Amino acid sequence: MTGTGLSIQQVAHGYGAGAGRVEVLHDVSLAAAPGELVAVAGPSGSGKSTLCHLAAGFETPERGTVTVDGRPADAVADWSVVAVVPQQHGLLAGLSVEDNICLPAYRAGVDPVAALARLAEALDLGAFTRRGVRETSLGEQQRTAVARALVLAPRLAVLDEPTGHQDDDHVAQVAAVLVGAAHAGSAVLVATHDSRVWEVADRVVHLDEGRVTAL
Ligand SMILES: Nc1ncnc2c1ncn2[C@@H]1O[C@H](COP(=O)(O)OP(=O)(O)OP(=O)(O)O)[C@@H](O)[C@H]1O
Ligand SMILES: [Mg+2]
Repeated sequence: MTGTGLSIQQVAHGYGAGAGRVEVLHDVSLAAAPGELVAVAGPSGSGKSTLCHLAAGFETPERGTVTVDGRPADAVADWSVVAVVPQQHGLLAGLSVEDNICLPAYRAGVDPVAALARLAEALDLGAFTRRGVRETSLGEQQRTAVARALVLAPRLAVLDEPTGHQDDDHVAQVAAVLVGAAHAGSAVLVATHDSRVWEVADRVVHLDEGRVTAL
């Protein structure tokens, strides 16, 4: 069944063939409805990033279905529908913080001024928006990627370890921004080891060796 928001149904996925084959996800089903913040927890190598890539539509599941608002995720190429914070942030190093955050809005022909101001304030980026991304810290780059993911208030935001480079205060800011995005109607899927993010999530899904072990 596919509904609104993110729907992952009986997905199996792996990489390679023959002796080098790696089975990563086994019969994984989960959903994130509009307005819902769902955290995915699990040890390193359990398949969290793989699940994020499938939800983002970066990869096509070998078995099962992944849909966003009823459409296959890999057919969505619209940042206002699905926006992503990859584990390695994926910023354009030649651009400023501000231009990275606003790029989805520029492409969509949307005025980003209000969203930029709100996100820069909420994520403590105000002092560096004009600075080149190369001249910012890893934590600042990570918060820039979070702001970029939320600038268009997407139907689904997928964030892979978005607090990995943050101190306590900035973890709280990122968590608050994710809660705010969900309250504003986005479905939010966040892969995270961080219990401070689990605490603000509506649900925590545990992955263990590619299987959902608890809901
Ligand atoms: N392209 C690939 N080819 C082969 N194996 C892969 C590939 N991508 C991931 N894997 C393997 O799939 C498993 C799950 O990887 P994944 O990156 O999803 O884990 P993760 O839960 O995100 O881990 P971490 O917490 O370290 O980020 C790992 O064993 C990894 O080595
Ligand atoms: Mg990962």
